[in-house]
Amino acid sequence: MSQTRTPVELLIVAIQDLHDGEIAWGERLAELREAVPASILSFVPDELARSAAQAFRLEALAEILGAPAQKMENIWLRAILDDAKRDSETIVEGPLRAIALVGAFRKGKQSERVSYETAIGLSRQLGHDEAVAVLTLSRDEEAAADADLARLLDELLQTIS
Ligand SMILES: [Fe+2]
Repeated sequence: MSQTRTPVELLIVAIQDLHDGEIAWGERLAELREAVPASILSFVPDELARSAAQAFRLEALAEILGAPAQKMENIWLRAILDDAKRDSETIVEGPLRAIALVGAFRKGKQSERVSYETAIGLSRQLGHDEAVAVLTLSRDEEAAADADLARLLDELLQTIS
């Protein structure tokens, strides 16, 4: 395995890692859709649209940097989504499953937010203003999605005794 040696190579690695994360959301939510309680079902189409748009931005950025977007497995996010799948199978349908899935989805959003921030920092150091702008847009979308999930969690918690 070749080693990453320069800041721009590390930015490419970060972009590839983020890109696989966006693809993972699309794959795993499609598998999970039937098991997602109605109370949180609106997250699914919202996230499918968001992750597809973000993946497209990352592909454009990778192309500018002369590298493929598809290369790296995002081990962290895929493990979080595996955990969500397990919750969907082992927790009874209803508010408890919804709470667990919101928790897992929030872990996913946080992992993406901090990963985008690494890529933003590298882009800033490299003076790559376009990358900073594009990655910041996606980072802000992740933060907003997490805030929406946090509100949903509060509502769900009110429904259990
Ligand atoms: Fe995302």
